[in-house]
Amino acid sequence: MDFSAVIVAAGSGSRAGSGPAKQWRRVAGRPVLRWAAEGLRAAGAVSLVVVVAEGEVDHATEVLAGLDRLRIVIGGAARADSVRAGLAALASEGPEVVLVHDAARPFVTSAHVAALLEALAEADGAVPTLPVADTLKRAGPDGALGTVSRDGLHRVQTPQAFHYARLVQAYEGWNLSEPPTDDAMVVERAGGRVIATPGDPMLMKLTYPEDFAMAEALAGQARLTRIGQGLDAHRFGPGDSVWLCGVQIPHDRGLIGHSDADAGLHALTDAILGAIGCGDIGEHFPPSDPRWKGAASDQFVRHAVALVRQAGGRIVNADVTLVCEEPKIKPHREAMRARIAELLELPLARISVKATTTEGMGFPGRREGLAAQAVVAVDTPL
Ligand code: CTP
Ligand code: MG
Repeated sequence: MDFSAVIVAAGSGSRAGSGPAKQWRRVAGRPVLRWAAEGLRAAGAVSLVVVVAEGEVDHATEVLAGLDRLRIVIGGAARADSVRAGLAALASEGPEVVLVHDAARPFVTSAHVAALLEALAEADGAVPTLPVADTLKRAGPDGALGTVSRDGLHRVQTPQAFHYARLVQAYEGWNLSEPPTDDAMVVERAGGRVIATPGDPMLMKLTYPEDFAMAEALAGQARLTRIGQGLDAHRFGPGDSVWLCGVQIPHDRGLIGHSDADAGLHALTDAILGAIGCGDIGEHFPPSDPRWKGAASDQFVRHAVALVRQAGGRIVNADVTLVCEEPKIKPHREAMRARIAELLELPLARISVKATTTEGMGFPGRREGLAAQAVVAVDTPL
């Protein structure tokens, strides 16, 4: 099911101590807001609206760079005002379903979202909840404690899922002087039925300074390393140079292919696409399309890298092996590494280019053509 998401990040984080507001602080090297946005994008959000305080638009743009189908709008004094601003920004799209999420909850995953969307099929709203484990007390005016029954009580987290039109309508009808404390409350008061999905300690909200240590500990569980591999081969033909791994090498023959026939970059592109489950190079750049005739293959790599970013992922490393008797790769190896490092925007140390022969066997051995193989690791949201 398609859904849009509103991420509210316009608070001042007054309980979280001094320094930048909590949504801008880093957990495991990544800003908290970016964690939330990447998590929702990886879970399938077709559009994202991020709500920030006035004066923070540039900051947010920088922090969210590379994520597409994303808008940044200005929030209000209370969380509910920020939610309203986010919902208004989606009015022209009029999505069927909207998820409202606190930026301060960095570790949202596809599993959380899937449970919410499933529950929403039979309700006006769905929210992740956890049972209350501690005994609850209320302090009286004199400071003396009285016990409150925790029977049937739940702690509620975000993201919260709603039918968009229903939530907008409920907010329009909100007539209490106090702002609501969550979005489900607004729908409940409007007579809507909100149901629970399993909450998760991973959906913790960063509220107090000490919560950041807990978030650092949880961060490792919120990401996944995915491996992709690619393989390509091209036949030698007439020519005076070959392109391999983005480097032009003078040779007494060329390579035949629809594009520049750079088997190294083709294998690399397929490895990247494979890691994020996004099909293969032929699907994205059909050989039947005249646009790719003689095309430089670096644009195929760049496209795959952009798809990784859009999915909230990052390439960790790449390892390319060229299989050929000729041309000799060694003199060009460092130039190839440097070119790939540039295309993937990674330090040189994360890129490997190797070469091997097949001891005279098979098509590379007979010098009919050459082959390339690539493996790539990509770090993505869970
Ligand atoms: N929020 C918002 N606009 C507001 C207030 C809050 O967008 N006017 C957002 C926060 O940025 C946060 C989420 O709502 O992502 C949950 O609110 P809370 O944890 O209370 O964050 P803050 O209000 O920033 O923190 P504090 O209450 O400690 O000042
Ligand atoms: Mg607050």
